[in-house]
Amino acid sequence: MIELDSLAKRFGSFWAVDHVSLSVGKGEIYGLLGANGAGKTTLIRMICGVLTPTAGKGQVLGLDLRREQLKIRQQIGYMSQKFSLYRDLTVEENLLFYARIYGVDRPKERIASLIDQFSLHQVKKQLVSALGTGVRQRVAFGCALVHQPALLILDEATSGADLFTRRLFWEHLYQLAEKGTTILVTTHYMDEAERCHRIALLNRGKLIAEGKVSELKKGVQKENREKSSLEDVFFYYMNKKREA
Ligand SMILES: Nc1ncnc2c1ncn2[C@@H]1O[C@H](COP(=O)(O)OP(=O)(O)OP(=O)(O)O)[C@@H](O)[C@H]1O
Ligand SMILES: [Mg+2]
Repeated sequence: MIELDSLAKRFGSFWAVDHVSLSVGKGEIYGLLGANGAGKTTLIRMICGVLTPTAGKGQVLGLDLRREQLKIRQQIGYMSQKFSLYRDLTVEENLLFYARIYGVDRPKERIASLIDQFSLHQVKKQLVSALGTGVRQRVAFGCALVHQPALLILDEATSGADLFTRRLFWEHLYQLAEKGTTILVTTHYMDEAERCHRIALLNRGKLIAEGKVSELKKGVQKENREKSSLEDVFFYYMNKKREA
């Protein structure tokens, strides 16, 4: 679903994404981890077809990252760090707006189902500007899913969300993945990273470790001779990079 071959982005003389190769399969939940400025959003923007790579190549849903950016944008679901809801429209109007942009069949039925899934009945007539963070995130999540995309990309979609919202998100992500949706997420929350099928660690634009959480933990455990949490794994690789 995602195949990246030495993908890179340079801003001036600085490589924000430094030749990253990775692949994500159908129905997989893949997590990108890294400190602020590590290059996660820049990598995601290339995968979404909104930023042209400086070097390297890649395919998303079988489409070329350089030549088929528009098609990619139409086919994926994307929720960014600063998600784009219309504050002066109601919850229902936002969903309907995105349904129309994506040319969804029977848009009213689709959004009724989303309102149901994300428990938005009580707020559907309210303006987005009047909503709290968690509810807004649920609306944005619904908008990202309105066209039932085969690939869903969530860039810190749950940052600042309460436990209820985060739990609801993850229940949905598992259900979607089981039905074959591929999911790419970035997060700074270790409990969320633990829930991914596989994760990648990015440091200064470079992919420095990748694998199943259990395997990464085992690897670090061998070196440290102590039981390792995912946080230990994170710092182990970050420090190793610094020493090198
Ligand atoms: N359009 C741009 N022009 C110049 N530099 C940029 C641009 N976009 C991002 N950068 C720089 O690239 C680096 C990587 O940024 P990016 O937003 O990808 O990091 P991130 O891993 O998503 O961080 P965060 O966890 O804070 O979201 C940062 O140093 C950032 O300042
Ligand atoms: Mg970011």
